[in-house]
Amino acid sequence: MSASDGQQSSFVVVANRLPVDRVTSEDGEVSWQTSPGGLVTALEPLMRRFGGAWVGWPGSADETVDPFEHEGYQVVPVELSTREVEEYYEGFSNSTLWPLYHDAVAFPEFHREWWETYRDVNLRFAVRTAEACAPNATVWVQDYQLQLVPAMLRRLRPDLKIGFFLHIPFPPIELYEQLPWRRQIIEGLLGADLVGFQVPGGASNFLRLVRRRTEHQVRSDRVSVEDGHLCTVRAYPISIDYQGFVELAESPEVLAESAELRAELGNPETILLGVDRLDYTKGLRQRIRAVGELFAEGKLDPETTVFLQVATPSREDVEEYQKLRNDIDQLVGRINSSVGGVGRPAISYRHANFSRSTMAAMYQLADVMLVTPLRDGMNLVAKEYIACHTKSSGALVLSEFAGAARELKRAYLVNPYDLDAMKDTIMRALTDPEPVRSRAFLAMKRKVRDNSIDHWANKFLQDLKAV
Ligand code: ADP
Ligand code: G6P
Repeated sequence: MSASDGQQSSFVVVANRLPVDRVTSEDGEVSWQTSPGGLVTALEPLMRRFGGAWVGWPGSADETVDPFEHEGYQVVPVELSTREVEEYYEGFSNSTLWPLYHDAVAFPEFHREWWETYRDVNLRFAVRTAEACAPNATVWVQDYQLQLVPAMLRRLRPDLKIGFFLHIPFPPIELYEQLPWRRQIIEGLLGADLVGFQVPGGASNFLRLVRRRTEHQVRSDRVSVEDGHLCTVRAYPISIDYQGFVELAESPEVLAESAELRAELGNPETILLGVDRLDYTKGLRQRIRAVGELFAEGKLDPETTVFLQVATPSREDVEEYQKLRNDIDQLVGRINSSVGGVGRPAISYRHANFSRSTMAAMYQLADVMLVTPLRDGMNLVAKEYIACHTKSSGALVLSEFAGAARELKRAYLVNPYDLDAMKDTIMRALTDPEPVRSRAFLAMKRKVRDNSIDHWANKFLQDLKAV
């Protein structure tokens, strides 16, 4: 059945990616895999509970896929051509907006053709969404790839309630203003009834920009846009399915897998863990260098300690990501050849995708979790570790520049640019007395438990109904 055959939903999520990626193997066999990233981790369990429809791209170019039912909700694929993948996804989304919104930690590129394709693809998403919506439906548009969709959708379907949530940081106005299409993007977002950001700073950056660059009246958190349309702007820190992760991590299968993994790592006494998409915002270069120096200086003993770093392949056709991959391979190789363990490398580096249960097994094992992005909207890995590490003695080293640091104040907070401070903090996380570590860890568990993904979604959707 296709959306145009009349299947319409009263609740529709729109995101660049579908929750599952269509993968075609070399012998032509098609399979579907869970899509990477925090957006899908957060929203997928909600869709299973709420039902409705998810509009998004199936992850491969030049393929038209019919809508289908998945885990009790409707999946509505939007096709992208090879050129659109290059210009809209790898180009404007991931080589212009992604670096610009992450404090320009890599250089953002501005190309007019990319912008035009971004606009065209946003219109396609808006049209497909309009077709998938029942009268007066609620639509929840997600993330930086689709910032023009709210206004486009409002024009097509003024009856809809439209929410928008940005999963990544919204940058300081001084940076944002570099964007040649800043005005169009602001107006695109203002098409929503409610725009949500990860942290209050993102919401206030956006409101400042609206005041500076538009004529719309701003009163407190409300913008009067036009024809009586109001857009409300607030912060909604995203979270994880806490209970789901706890149950997974305590399952006999995961506990058995974590014992196997420990044996496979050579039964070390101490395990440090990093889990990231292989992305330059995640601070991998700095983190690996800091741990490498601790091994080289003898503060960490490779005979008893292993640093397990997992990196999900990501955006592999974008140059900055290819460069990062080579740099990390070389850095890990250099460190491992200079600090020898007992027949095992000091850094066990795994560039691969793992199942959710394997991730939970890794979190169970980690004595210290290292989450040190240079900038991150929230960082769900930090929260997953807190849920899945079921011993009370975990320790989280967390960058001050992750959205999660606002809630997880009892973490070992670090400035990831300050290597010496990072080294000291890692050592403190390893050596603080057990009661100190466990008091902080249990306090963070309560925090994550009390703001799980259901709270986040309910709060956003209730506000959307009310505005
Ligand atoms: P981002 O959304 O930028 O990737 P987050 O930390 O918010 O960062 O979310 C990352 C998500 O991807 C988490 O749910 C994490 O469990 C998952 N993940 C990270 N690395 C892997 C991997 N190698 N295999 C499977 N899942 C992974
Ligand atoms: C982050 C972004 C998401 C994105 C995910 C994976 O979480 O906020 O929008 O889906 O990374 O990135 P990818 O480019 O593979 O979709």
